[in-house]
Amino acid sequence: MSKILVTGGLGYIGSHTVVELINAGFEPVIVDDLSNSHPKILDQITKITGHKPVFHQLDLSDEHTVKNLATAEPDIAGVIHFAAFKAVGESVQLPLKYYRNNIYSLVNLLDAYYGKPINFVFSSSCTVYGQPDVLPVTEQAPIKPAQSPYGNTKQIAEEILFDTVSAGSAYKVIALRYFNPVGAHDSALIGELPIGVPQNLVPFITQTAIGKREKITVFGDDYNTPDGSCVRDYIHVVDLAKAHVAALKLMENNNFSGYDVFNIGTGTGTSVLEAIKTFERVSGLKLNYSIGPRRSGDVEQVWGNVSKAAEKLNWKTDLGIDTMMSSAWAWEKYISQNPL
Ligand code: NAD
Ligand code: WQD
Repeated sequence: MSKILVTGGLGYIGSHTVVELINAGFEPVIVDDLSNSHPKILDQITKITGHKPVFHQLDLSDEHTVKNLATAEPDIAGVIHFAAFKAVGESVQLPLKYYRNNIYSLVNLLDAYYGKPINFVFSSSCTVYGQPDVLPVTEQAPIKPAQSPYGNTKQIAEEILFDTVSAGSAYKVIALRYFNPVGAHDSALIGELPIGVPQNLVPFITQTAIGKREKITVFGDDYNTPDGSCVRDYIHVVDLAKAHVAALKLMENNNFSGYDVFNIGTGTGTSVLEAIKTFERVSGLKLNYSIGPRRSGDVEQVWGNVSKAAEKLNWKTDLGIDTMMSSAWAWEKYISQNPL
């Protein structure tokens, strides 16, 4: 069984990916500092899979800690690097916090395992495209100037990985540019755990429905889109998790070398108002929402061309917006009744 180091493996996307790795016969080794996750997520993963992965609680932004990790876990075949801070607004206020964590952690990992033939999957983001000129956006689209320090860390990280591969290191690297991950595992035992007031649409919808928030504001209905609200490519987190397994499998293939990048979305756009209406339909609830002003920094519309991932990763999404909303709602109900 190939050992795969999963950094940020107790976080939202990481925990779902650990489950899919186990399902696919890999042996995940989790690293997380619990800065945005909870140790009980390890128990939840164990309940779902019947297997308790090895877990190292440590901070990857510390160079010596990561060198020690590489000594303790020398025989890994792959790394999936999720660990990062991800709050766009906070990154504008505290840029150094984001550069330190998101960049140091990546460099420390690459340095500590340098020289070993490791298949490395990196969590990038559609944020690198900003507002694309052509939709659906392909991987060849120009990278736009980053709108936030967070977005900049993704652009810089892709360059660091490209340069590391170009320098002839033994790494193979795939950067996955996620669109908007939402939803939860169908067991409802793991899901997104926003700290404080959620910034993202779907947790705000479910927290409003459960009564934690009084109402949700739709940030603008005067955009140049069919219903005036912003359009995104929402992707179910379990489909996204499976894309990481597909990326590892592609790199295990001797025909793959070097660096490549893939859009990971459904290839279709959903507006904010459509998302709200879908939630209302699948939950049978009326959501208290109103139209408010635009949120500064929002792109109007983005969805991905995902044909490269279909062709080369042999991967596609199975789950649609109804399942995204119903699974997010099942998780919200579970976690409100079973707080960690
Ligand atoms: P998350 O916050 O739920 O997971 C990140 C995990 O990394 C957390 O468990 C946190 O405790 C851990 N972590 C952070 N810094 C660490 C450090 N220095 N050492 C060890 N562990 C550390 O976030 P997520 O939504 O699962 O996102 C995972 C990755 O995907 C991130 O790199 C994020 O930028 C990227 N991404 C997320 C989205 C999204 O909308 N969720 C979209 C595109 C890309
Ligand atoms: C989706 C839509 C909002 C909340 C962010 C990051 C991006 C990436 C994914 C990591 C937008 C609208 C939201 C609310 C609303 N993350 N909305 N009311 O902005 O596409 O992307 O997460 O890489 O970098 O910027 O996602 O979920 O915040 O918003 O109307 O209360 O929902 O305006 O149109 P976004 P989101």
